[in-house]
Amino acid sequence: MRNTTILLLALLLTLLSSSSTWPPPLTACAAGQHCDDRAAAGSLPSCLLATGVRNFSLAGSPAYDALLNFSIQNLRFALPAAGAVPRPAAVVLPRGRSELTSAVLCARHASLRIRVRSGGHSYEGLSYTVGDGGDDADRVRFVVIDLMRMNRVRVDAASATAWVESGATLGEIYYAVASSSSSLAFPAGSCSTVGAGGHISGGGFGLLSRKFKLAADNVLDAILVDADGRVLDRSSMGENVFWAIRGGGGGSWGVVYAWKLRLVQVPNTLTAFTPKRTGSVDAIAGLVHRWQYVGSALPDEFYLSVFLTIGGASSSSPSRDGNVTVSFTGLVLGSKELAMSVLSERFPELGLAEPEMSEMSWVESAARFAGLSSTEELTSRASRTKHYAKSKSDYVRSPIARGAVAAILRYLAGGPAGYVILDPYGGAMAREGSGDTPFPHRAGNLYSVQYGVTWEAGDNGGGGGGGGGGEARMAWLRALYAYMAPHVSKNPRAAYVNYVDLDLGTNALAGNVSSPSSSVSRTRSTWGSAYF
Ligand SMILES: Cc1cc2nc3c(=O)[nH]c(=O)nc-3n(C[C@H](O)[C@H](O)[C@H](O)COP(=O)(O)OP(=O)(O)OC[C@H]3O[C@@H](n4cnc5c(N)ncnc54)[C@H](O)[C@@H]3O)c2cc1C
Ligand SMILES: *[C@@H]1O[C@H](CO)[C@@H](O)[C@H](O)[C@H]1NC(C)=O
Ligand SMILES: *[C@@H]1O[C@H](CO)[C@@H](O)[C@H](O)[C@H]1NC(C)=O
Ligand SMILES: *[C@@H]1O[C@H](CO)[C@@H](O)[C@H](O)[C@H]1NC(C)=O
Ligand SMILES: *[C@@H]1O[C@H](CO)[C@@H](O)[C@H](O)[C@H]1NC(C)=O
Repeated sequence: MRNTTILLLALLLTLLSSSSTWPPPLTACAAGQHCDDRAAAGSLPSCLLATGVRNFSLAGSPAYDALLNFSIQNLRFALPAAGAVPRPAAVVLPRGRSELTSAVLCARHASLRIRVRSGGHSYEGLSYTVGDGGDDADRVRFVVIDLMRMNRVRVDAASATAWVESGATLGEIYYAVASSSSSLAFPAGSCSTVGAGGHISGGGFGLLSRKFKLAADNVLDAILVDADGRVLDRSSMGENVFWAIRGGGGGSWGVVYAWKLRLVQVPNTLTAFTPKRTGSVDAIAGLVHRWQYVGSALPDEFYLSVFLTIGGASSSSPSRDGNVTVSFTGLVLGSKELAMSVLSERFPELGLAEPEMSEMSWVESAARFAGLSSTEELTSRASRTKHYAKSKSDYVRSPIARGAVAAILRYLAGGPAGYVILDPYGGAMAREGSGDTPFPHRAGNLYSVQYGVTWEAGDNGGGGGGGGGGEARMAWLRALYAYMAPHVSKNPRAAYVNYVDLDLGTNALAGNVSSPSSSVSRTRSTWGSAYF
């Protein structure tokens, strides 16, 4: 008994003395310096264990590959260790606010840079690579703090609000909201495995945005862990930081631990439709051309986007007579009758027929537009398919001439499996001031354009890291983007930060403080003015 007491006392003293030196002093490692001090990095596991973070995996340990791979959504950045993509020294999976804080402080203590990952859908792999540090990025040592175990969603239906941990996926949020009330919804993107952390940080556009604006426009409060491990809410972070985290792009302002969201009221019945139309290039160009005058001018309750994908080996390749197919995605906050009456008057060229439409609940529509066959699948975090991918974006402020639309269709028809998505803006999106959040694409924008190309490892002799088939496909996409320049927004040519595109420039300054700043700052201002 006595021995035990002494032991306990000794233990208590050890704990007290270690907690009195906590947080440990940060080792000198100024921003931009290379912090590849192996001894400091070696202290990461002991620091994590001492502060209660038990779930982490060091490079080379058995679980490391699987944990790192799980949320690598773009295979361009999934190369094995010997590949071109630098890999993190560790993947840390904190659970809860205090473990997250410890993970941040331990990474800094070990002089490791931090990449935060929620859903892992960054188009350029920014949540798990250090590719933005200049050409010596491979020497930068870093750690991935992966929030996949921080995915709790707490809905308060009475106040129509929810607290959502950043690691929750959009599907997990939608399922939880719908489970608590059939008349509540949250406006955000359509892919169910996208993470709240990155998505809301960059804005978050979806099928309800013309009525209820962006995900970021519906953030009431947030809890942020800053680089010094301070835990800040809206009042303690201040309105400037609170402004920046709602659209300023993820990974820059600290780690958002959780978001307080405003939920929105939706009818019990919505109408969904995905009509496809086939015809000659000229006929389809005419239809898409006409849509430009309709999409952003429809009532706020209407969402009607255009999906163009014609090339590659897909079944939608142009037929021998040169016909092409366009798909529309439609969602109306109301009945079939409402959808029919408005669309037959505003867009008779579409020729929408009642049998093409289905009435359903909001959560059923969320599952359908995520490509899922049941609402339960919304809670699955595992991506069913992963590709090599590259995307770019634009904004259109005045309709593109019919001839140019036809040229785009011909270009798609002759290329690999590329696609172009036109997302209608207007409505409530346009009534928010362009400076109210960092997301500036408000009044005056008819629609956004997303260009994409995907490929598989075997295409054109291997897709490794964008080499082989990947390089050719990305060059094809960049040529389409270059062709579009006269037809889209100018001075600046705008882009959406959630469709992050490193062709617009990178934060090279962070990797090379010794470089004269002129060329560096020019690159920075290109992406700065494009996104913001
Ligand atoms: C298939 C697909 C469909 C998409 N559909 C839409 C759509 O409909 N609408 C739309 O607007 N966008 C859409 N996007 C884009 C998507 O919103 C962005 O890629 C978003 O940044 C992904 O967030 P994430 O958490 O999944 O990604 P991550 O790769 O985890 O994070 C993206 C960035 O945010 C940072 N970050 C992550 N978590 C945090 C955090 N907690 N605190 C601070 N920074 C953080 C990361 O470091 C990284 O820089 C889509 C993307 C894909 C791949
Ligand atoms: C760490 O978290 C991951 C993801 O939830 C889980 O698969 C794994 O089993 C956990 N590992 C440990 C040691 O708890
Ligand atoms: C991780 O992904 C890479 C690239 O796809 C693959 O080579 C590797 O086998 C994967 N590792 C695991 C453990 O899944
Ligand atoms: C091509 O489109 C026209 C309408 O523009 C249609 O009449 C014809 O059947 C289509 N051909 C094929 C093979 O789909
Ligand atoms: C950094 O800047 C120095 C001085 O201009 C230059 O010599 C060096 O090549 C640069 N390194 C990178 C990675 O850009």
